[in-house]
Amino acid sequence: MIEARNLTKRYGKLLALDDLSLDIGPGEVFGFIGPNGAGKSTTMRILACLMRPDSGTAKVCGRFVESEGPAIRRLIGYMPDFLGVYEDLTVDEYLQFFASAFQIPRKQRRSIVDGVLELTDLTEKRRSPVEGLSRGMTQRLGVARVLIHDPKVLLLDEPASGLDPRARIEMRTLLAELGRMGKSIMLSSHILSELAELCNSIGIIERGKLLFAGTIEEAYRKAALGDRVRITLEGGTDPAVAASVIEGDGRVLRVSTNGTTLTIDLAPEVQERHFLIEKLVAAGVRIGALRPEEARLEDAFLRLTKGSVQ
Ligand SMILES: Nc1ncnc2c1ncn2[C@@H]1O[C@H](COP(=O)(O)OP(=O)(O)O)[C@@H](O)[C@H]1O
Ligand SMILES: [Mg+2]
Repeated sequence: MIEARNLTKRYGKLLALDDLSLDIGPGEVFGFIGPNGAGKSTTMRILACLMRPDSGTAKVCGRFVESEGPAIRRLIGYMPDFLGVYEDLTVDEYLQFFASAFQIPRKQRRSIVDGVLELTDLTEKRRSPVEGLSRGMTQRLGVARVLIHDPKVLLLDEPASGLDPRARIEMRTLLAELGRMGKSIMLSSHILSELAELCNSIGIIERGKLLFAGTIEEAYRKAALGDRVRITLEGGTDPAVAASVIEGDGRVLRVSTNGTTLTIDLAPEVQERHFLIEKLVAAGVRIGALRPEEARLEDAFLRLTKGSVQ
């Protein structure tokens, strides 16, 4: 759905995009991750046909951004990082406005706007002024707006930025729903963990260069990160003694202790965890709980962006 080839873009002397290529397939949810100033918005503006690259090319839905902008704009939904100001409009009027801008026949507008209000959980706010919405609602309204013409491809620039934890969860639920609807989605973020469970693939960009593209599992592998397991001890076992039982094992990279908890980093590619329990139990250690650690995307990201991994 998206093929970018060797995109380069300068703002004056600043090289904002440096020979960037990426592909996003049908139904893929692609997380575009990088720190502020990395070039995410620039890339997305080029794909949305709002800006031309200095060199390189891109196709969206099989059409060239440089020559087929109007056709592409009907097939994509682009949500910019800032929504702009629409004073004195209610939520409903705002969406009606975009429905007419997309030349949706008047008779269909009501049901389409109702549909996107429902999907983005804004039905109750339909008569509220856009200006007074919370940040979370404003972002959901931004998503509602790009769904009006039922695009195949969504380009969402930092949809979860500035949201409180609750609003972030609501946004994540909404984006997951859009993924299930089969849309191809490119969404950017400078916060990695925001995207971990949502995306089937990620691209990591820094200083205009794509450092990595692939699945999250591939990112872990490339960063040579193995699984991490936490074990809580019971029965007054000395954590240092418990650590010494498993430290020598070739499958274990590192063991650290904190109170009654052991944190164990396994070597990359090691899938098995049961040997940890067997060894500890054999040594008379009582185990309260064993938990695999949540996705360690931040660690993978740091390693991939430190330039230490090629
Ligand atoms: N219109 C512009 N004029 C000059 N510099 C810009 C402009 N837009 C972006 N930049 C610069 O280009 C770089 C990439 O910006 P951007 O694509 O917005 O990154 P991101 O979205 O990843 O934060 C940054 O250094 C930014 O300051
Ligand atoms: Mg940006």
